[in-house]
Amino acid sequence: MNKKIEGIILAGGTGSRLYPLTRVTNKHLLPVYNKLMIFYPLETLKTLGIKDICIVSGGEHIADFIRLLGSGSEFGVKFTYKVQDEPKGIAHALLQAEGLVKNDEKVVAVLGDNIFEKVEAPSEAFSDNNAYIYIKEVEDPERFGVVRFNKKNEIIGITEKPKEPPSKFAVTGMYIYPNDVFGFIKTLKPSQRGELEITDVNNWYLKQGRLKAITIDGFWSDAGTFESLLNATLFAAKNKA
Ligand code: G1P
Repeated sequence: MNKKIEGIILAGGTGSRLYPLTRVTNKHLLPVYNKLMIFYPLETLKTLGIKDICIVSGGEHIADFIRLLGSGSEFGVKFTYKVQDEPKGIAHALLQAEGLVKNDEKVVAVLGDNIFEKVEAPSEAFSDNNAYIYIKEVEDPERFGVVRFNKKNEIIGITEKPKEPPSKFAVTGMYIYPNDVFGFIKTLKPSQRGELEITDVNNWYLKQGRLKAITIDGFWSDAGTFESLLNATLFAAKNKA
């Protein structure tokens, strides 16, 4: 990796699906086996060689992250902290990091509740003009962004939480974007759930023929519901995280 790549851990939101565990604690500061949740996406970014990492969270919790993670020297990285004033979605959280990414630089965003066994990125992903998503076949696609394929197995659309999923392939919470992502996010309108949707961002790149998908090998789970938090915990325990 020649250029500087900014990594972003999106750790905001209300954690409503884990209430009341999230009544006073940010979701990403809950334990997953023997580590707090945020350490898993941190490890994911470090595995990709990313050393400049921005943590985005709500004003009520950002101080907890600073207290836990500090400057980053302990972890061999450099942290920047950004406040998302209102929980208006993943794309809105990503926008808070705009000033950290130069015109010709790319950004790698990972959701703070996503736990990956293994992620890899082709070297061009850090320098080309395309967006990258990571997809994985799952049993419960309706909980996620889901991809639709044509007969040639090319992705032709992504739908957020479809009642009737067009495939079993979920879009996981790991994305690589060029700098023009920020300009596009500013044009987005909130969805029915009142959020700026990352799925709208991915569909915008798809329409331009600039979206690449990487299929994930190994375990992946979010940890944002009681069931998925349990699954992630069992995985971490088995792998002696
Ligand atoms: C978000 C995204 C969804 C993605 C999922 C991965 O969902 O909107 O497209 O599949 O993360 O964890 P959320 O957790 O906000 O419901």
